[in-house]
Amino acid sequence: MSRVKIGLIGSQFAAEIHAESLKMVPDAEVVAVASPTESHVRAFASKHAIPYWFTDYRKLLEMEEIRMVALSVPNDLHCPITMACASADKHVVVEKPFAMNLREADLMIDACRKAGVLCMYAEELCFTPKYVRVKQLADEGAFGRVYLVKQSEKHGGPHAAWFWDVRRSGGGVTMDMGCHAIEFFRWFYGKPKATSVFADMGTFVHSGRTKGDDNATIIVRFENGAAGLAEESWARAGGMDDRVEVFGSDGCAYANLHMGNAIQTYSEKGYGYVVEKATSSKGWTYTTWEEIWNYGFPQEMAHFVDCVKNGKQPLETGEDGRAVLELVCAAYASAGRGRRIELPFRTDAERPIDLWLDSNTARPT
Ligand SMILES: NC(=O)c1ccc[n+]([C@@H]2O[C@H](COP(=O)([O-])OP(=O)(O)OC[C@H]3O[C@@H](n4cnc5c(N)ncnc54)[C@H](O)[C@@H]3O)[C@@H](O)[C@H]2O)c1
Repeated sequence: MSRVKIGLIGSQFAAEIHAESLKMVPDAEVVAVASPTESHVRAFASKHAIPYWFTDYRKLLEMEEIRMVALSVPNDLHCPITMACASADKHVVVEKPFAMNLREADLMIDACRKAGVLCMYAEELCFTPKYVRVKQLADEGAFGRVYLVKQSEKHGGPHAAWFWDVRRSGGGVTMDMGCHAIEFFRWFYGKPKATSVFADMGTFVHSGRTKGDDNATIIVRFENGAAGLAEESWARAGGMDDRVEVFGSDGCAYANLHMGNAIQTYSEKGYGYVVEKATSSKGWTYTTWEEIWNYGFPQEMAHFVDCVKNGKQPLETGEDGRAVLELVCAAYASAGRGRRIELPFRTDAERPIDLWLDSNTARPT
């Protein structure tokens, strides 16, 4: 059977990851890319040998042969473009965080269901080889009864202006990276219901640049009695730090994705690329290798392509993206109100961050 023809919408950071990842998937063929800035999209198409490029994504959706579309656009465009993909009968991969609010999430899920297309939620931590191995150990009982899983992502702040504008991003680091940890917990524990969220957050370093939180600690409790502890930061100098810790009645594991895998390099002159969002390559550094493979992006895309080609149910769906968003909203409400929030959490907030910003509770800035 022929390869799955794919369109990419967006041509910057995550789109590069999608394009490079899809080159490693034998059943995938990227045939078009769309993005509003002509010079960017043209250069992107040329670099990745993609035959068609458009400045209007609706033109890409008119291409009959495209079966799957991967979105790498700012968060406030996830809903309208997903709805357009569903109307055009395209299976759609939506990057994290799934949507700006729960109403949008419901619309997206509903539109895809009615159109009979897959709505796939791009959470690569469920495909990260090192973390997949840790989950295998937990599932075979190596740690006994697991009572705490910690997941943490930290760097010095995002690369593009829209992330810092909460009207477009919907929130700060809890929205941007807390969503990774929350889905990691759900996946790791086998997707039990979450029962409560407690969060503390502040804008410690970047208050001149954003109204969003730049450092957050989030505790999620699940119906299996276990907890997830997320530590997220846009305020940490030194490039991307990503790690998992697991604690159980009979054992524990520490998995450091970057520093634990890296080449320990010393350079007085510095060199080209260290790791995502590193700001210096001089002195001792932790040099990454096969970065996107170690993160699980090609494995994630291979899974989504397999689902489209062979009619399989995706491991990560719009429903998972919505469940994460509900917990993100609850985390902002918890930090705003200064107390634990019980689940399910219903809110008509336009953006998760509003639940924190609109609070009267004193918060650190
Ligand atoms: N899974 C991950 O680890 C990961 C990493 C980075 C980003 N992301 C997510 O991917 C999404 C994109 O982030 P990014 O870092 O690539 O942002 P970016 O700013 O680097 O790129 C955004 C792209 O969207 C395009 N765009 C803007 N308006 C558009 C429109 N109307 N139609 C089509 N394209 C449009 C821009 O031209 C640009 O090419 C976000 O939701 C982000 O959270 C996920």
